[in-house]
Amino acid sequence: MSSSSSVNSAASQELRDPAIRVVLQPKDTNNAGTIFGGIILSYIDLAGAVEVGKTTKQRIVTAGIKEVEFKAPVLVGEVVSFYTKTLRVGRTSVTVTVEVESTRGHDQVRVTSAELTFVCLDKDGKPTPVVPS
Ligand SMILES: CC(C)(COP(=O)(O)OP(=O)(O)OC[C@H]1O[C@@H](n2cnc3c(N)ncnc32)[C@H](O)[C@@H]1OP(=O)(O)O)[C@@H](O)C(=O)NCCC(=O)NCCS
Repeated sequence: MSSSSSVNSAASQELRDPAIRVVLQPKDTNNAGTIFGGIILSYIDLAGAVEVGKTTKQRIVTAGIKEVEFKAPVLVGEVVSFYTKTLRVGRTSVTVTVEVESTRGHDQVRVTSAELTFVCLDKDGKPTPVVPS
């Protein structure tokens, strides 16, 4: 792991409020013994949906996730935090970012980040204008 992926002390990060925080288990590992990337992606999707819930309570689906690069592995037992921010509210879509950080000892390690777009759907499953909650 390069030093550039370590972002801050774990203590200073406690003041931030993640959309979700999880501790991953041995069942979530890949053949290398670190956490499977797909598990992290599913939590990114979930955290993004939590962020959209601040804008609207409508039914939403994930339309797209932009390129995701994993900068550091996540190890079993680490506390992984998913920090979110709303970037844009479009006509029928909401775009958010998710930053993933893992607590390793006294440090926070930057794992990855992603930009996701969610689309509001009507009862027929068609895109419908965002109604702010
Ligand atoms: C996402 C989905 C609703 C888009 O339907 P569509 O008829 O192509 O929608 P439109 O072209 O009218 O676009 C609707 C909005 O989505 C945005 N959008 C569509 N595809 C997108 C993508 N890949 N990335 C980012 N935004 C996208 C458009 O920019 C538009 O935003 P706006 O209204 O705020 O300007 C449809 O493709 C779908 O249902 N996909 C499956 C979603 C799903 O099941 N996700 C879970 C994965 S299993």
